[in-house]
Amino acid sequence: MRKILVTSALPYANGSIHLGHLVEYIQTDIWVRFQKMKGNLTYYICADDTHGTPIMLMAEQENVTPDELVEKIHKEHSKDFEDFHVNFDNFYSTNSSENKNLSEDIYKALVKNNKILEKEIEQYYDPEKKMFLPDRFIKGECPKCKTKEQYGDSCESCGATYNPTDLINPYSVLTGSSPIKKKTTHYFFKLSECSDFLSKWTKSGTLQKEASNKLEEWFKSGLTDWDISRDAPYFGFEIPGASGKFFYVWLDAPIGYMASFKNFAKLNNLSFDDFWKNNSEAELVHFIGKDILYFHALFWPATLEYSGYRKPSKIYAHGFLTVNGEKMSKSRGTFITARSYLDNIKNPNFLRYYYASKLNDSMEDIDLNLEDFSAKVNSDLVGKFINIPSRTSGFISKYFENKLVPIASIENEKAKKLILEIITMKDLVLEYYEARLFSKLIKLLMSQVEVVNEFVSHMEPWVLAKNEDQHNINSDLHQICSTCLHAFRLISIYLTPIIPELAEKIAYLFKESPYESFSNINIEAIEINKYEHLIQRLDFKDIESMVDNSR
Ligand code: MSP
Ligand code: ZN
Repeated sequence: MRKILVTSALPYANGSIHLGHLVEYIQTDIWVRFQKMKGNLTYYICADDTHGTPIMLMAEQENVTPDELVEKIHKEHSKDFEDFHVNFDNFYSTNSSENKNLSEDIYKALVKNNKILEKEIEQYYDPEKKMFLPDRFIKGECPKCKTKEQYGDSCESCGATYNPTDLINPYSVLTGSSPIKKKTTHYFFKLSECSDFLSKWTKSGTLQKEASNKLEEWFKSGLTDWDISRDAPYFGFEIPGASGKFFYVWLDAPIGYMASFKNFAKLNNLSFDDFWKNNSEAELVHFIGKDILYFHALFWPATLEYSGYRKPSKIYAHGFLTVNGEKMSKSRGTFITARSYLDNIKNPNFLRYYYASKLNDSMEDIDLNLEDFSAKVNSDLVGKFINIPSRTSGFISKYFENKLVPIASIENEKAKKLILEIITMKDLVLEYYEARLFSKLIKLLMSQVEVVNEFVSHMEPWVLAKNEDQHNINSDLHQICSTCLHAFRLISIYLTPIIPELAEKIAYLFKESPYESFSNINIEAIEINKYEHLIQRLDFKDIESMVDNSR
């Protein structure tokens, strides 16, 4: 049995969960549920990422303390995840004592290993607000193409990247005043000294091909030291021995993975060291978006290496979500929050299914085309998949006292072959799950669903029902309908990680408890409960109102 600690990136606590985020959390959740059903000891760990300037300012604006704001958002996020059936073992917070202690310890270890450099730098300072300004809080003219209103780190018009001090006519986004240059002492993590370790580590099979190519580019342009400190006022952890200086949020955020696990381990009597000590046998798997690869594939392993911890086993980066082929946008109504989806469309299985049908192991972006979304879930999930029991289970209840013909007693050659094919598909199904080839998996299973539907259409149970003068146990009608239901049940077990709640209802149809293991394939159902409606078609009107409400 493998031991696997799985994480999704920690969502920022200054905004709502949206459909872009859910690409990641749904993908990870499917993979975790798969590992658990396969019998691997797996923990799914996450937390809110709470620190930094934006959260501090947002709290100020809302007239609450950052702690209060963070708590409110935590409740919201937890509910959103729960309602999308994203089943974390622990959803914690980086604003915790575990995280503070671990961050301090790791920092001290880095100091001890001579990996921290103290340096005086010059930064823009807002004299009115009396604070140093992060890059995103300074705007001005691009030094290259002279476009106005560009942020301090890069130009949205020509793509140039630069330092905020390069901007022409800079102004503070907070007060509009002209920032002044001011000297300040900062602490740097000496990433430039880590290239040997990192270039070796990069080749250890932890990264996707596209990601290691990206890293090669970064190695070529040279690794620069990383500023891990920020000046007060800042919402975060104060650096030990440096009053008025705080850890930059990206230092303590990934440590939040450890802190969340530490909290979970304590509550569940697990050993923290088992999973985090150097050379731990447990696997550590991070799911992230491609935008935060630099942090996870360079800063993070280097931090772990020089503070004496284990390194990630796998980093699985995914692409970004577009809606109707474009970046999510408020004005187009495509910046859709998790809550707005739930309020309007209600059924989270639709999105889980649709994302699965699009996801693979690459860093390519994925598109949520709303027309395609509604067409696909209605035709595949409702029209084909759920169509199987809705066409066949009625006969079983009406004529055969809800009893199914056991698989071994099925005589029709076509029927036997059909069931056998689905049973022997198991290895391939598990392989696709493991490799995160969810779109291939859906194709495979949906083609089986089609085979079953063709079988029904060909056998015409409704005609048999009319023609059989007596509905004896094991009659043709009984056999045909039982075959379809056995097949449907097997496919449902395979689909459980993707649509867990629907699968639970299906398990109930077969008088079973929820499927928690793929070994459920090896047993069979003997009878059913009376069929109750399992799913409502998606009405495109609901999508339209969701878009309207998102503007
Ligand atoms: N707080 C950091 C992560 C710290 S991890 C130690 C962060 N937060 S985030 O809220 O901006 O994003 C959380 C995750 O969601 C990231 O992996 C990010 O890539 C992913 N996504 C955010 N928007 C997304 C899309 N539009 N599409 C796909 N994934 C997206 O980054
Ligand atoms: Zn420019």
